[in-house]
This record gives sequence, C-alpha cells and structure tokens, in this order.
Amino acid sequence: MSQRTGIYPGTFDPITKGHLHIIQRASKLVDLLVVGVAKNINKEPLFSDGERFEMVQCDIDNLPDKQCDIKVEFFDGLLISYAQKKKASCIIRGLRAVSDFEYEFQMTGMNAKLNPEIETVFLMASDKWQFVSSSFIKEIFSLGGDISEFITPAVETLLKEKLEITANKA
Ligand code: COA
Repeated sequence: MSQRTGIYPGTFDPITKGHLHIIQRASKLVDLLVVGVAKNINKEPLFSDGERFEMVQCDIDNLPDKQCDIKVEFFDGLLISYAQKKKASCIIRGLRAVSDFEYEFQMTGMNAKLNPEIETVFLMASDKWQFVSSSFIKEIFSLGGDISEFITPAVETLLKEKLEITANKA
C-alpha cells in the first residue's frame, strides 16, 4: 500500500500549542506528516527562517503522542508546488474562528485550481486553542503578559531572548 503524505504549512512565528495540537491530531491521518515552515513573503516574521525551523523541530522532537513520522522542512515559493514535490495527497490546515474561514476558503480554492489532486483537509481547533495566535502571543509577551499556557518553555525562552535583543537595539 502506498504511503500517505500530508503537509502542514505555516509561518510558525512562533509555533504555539494550538499548532502542536493540530500536528498531533494530523499525525493520526497520514503516514508521513511534513511540517513546512514557510518563508511567507506576506509577513515580516520576528524570528528568522532558521530560528523558526529550529523551534518547530525542537517542539516536535518533544511532542508526545505522535502517531506517524513527522518531518520538519523549510520551504520557499508556492505551497502547491512544494506539496507536489513531496508527493503529498493533502494539505492540512487548522481552522479556528469564523475569521479564518474567508482566507482559508480562498487559499483552498486557489490551491485546488492549481492542482485539484491535492486536497486541503481542515481540523477545527479545539476550544482550548481557539483564540491563540502567534501575533497575540508576541504582543501579550512584549507587554509583560503571561503566555506560558500557550507556548512551550523552549519557545518562551527564545521569545524572551529575541525581545531582549530587539529592546536593546531600540
Ligand atoms: N492554533 C493557534 N494558532 C493558529 C492555529 C492553531 N491551530 N492555526 C493558525 N494559527 C494562527 C497562527 O498563529 C497565525 O497567527 P498570526 O497571523 O497572528 O501570525 C495565523 O493563524 C495563520 O498562521 P499559519 O497557520 O502559520 O499560516 P500562515 O497563514 O502564516 O501561513 C501559508 C500561510 C504559509 C500556508 C501560505 O502563506 C502559503 O501557502 N504560502 C506559500 C505561497 C503560496 O503558495 N501562496 C499562494 C497561496 S494560494
């Protein structure tokens, strides 16, 4: 039987426990899950490409309950071309509130036009992670709020270091 590969793409700036919960659940659906850390020309990430890759790899190494092989890779360019190159049968996306819907709807539609063979599969974020977003994590943390519930201790340390460097530069 052929191996089923899924891609979970994102900017992961930084990766949150919401992302990790989707990864855990997605690992039940495929034989190989490739977590694609995107360059994303539309966002100006706080963390560099290499830092985002490293933090995702570290969180996944420590993730319990993985049900399939999980590989972390960096990718640049079109998601659908990357998915094709990886011979993926599906792209997995987490869906939180209604606000995610329009963007995801458009992205899925465009990707389906570019390659109708690759399905996009949505996993609804659980109640616990509905309102988590990378931007909120960065904002709350930079204003002194406690975000330890939403990211792993490793990511919290990196975030602290990064914001200290940024503050020292200012
Ligand atoms: N839990 C917590 N947060 C979640 C989440 C979950 N389950 N799912 C999404 N998010 C948050 C992220 O933290 C992020 O928050 P932010 O906007 O505050 O940073 C936001 O939702 C969306 O981020 P993410 O899921 O990482 O995806 P993205 O929108 O940053 O990435 C790509 C989008 C990389 C998939 C898309 O830009 C892409 O495909 N790029 C390649 C170029 C391409 O092919 N373009 C054509 C597309 S048709």
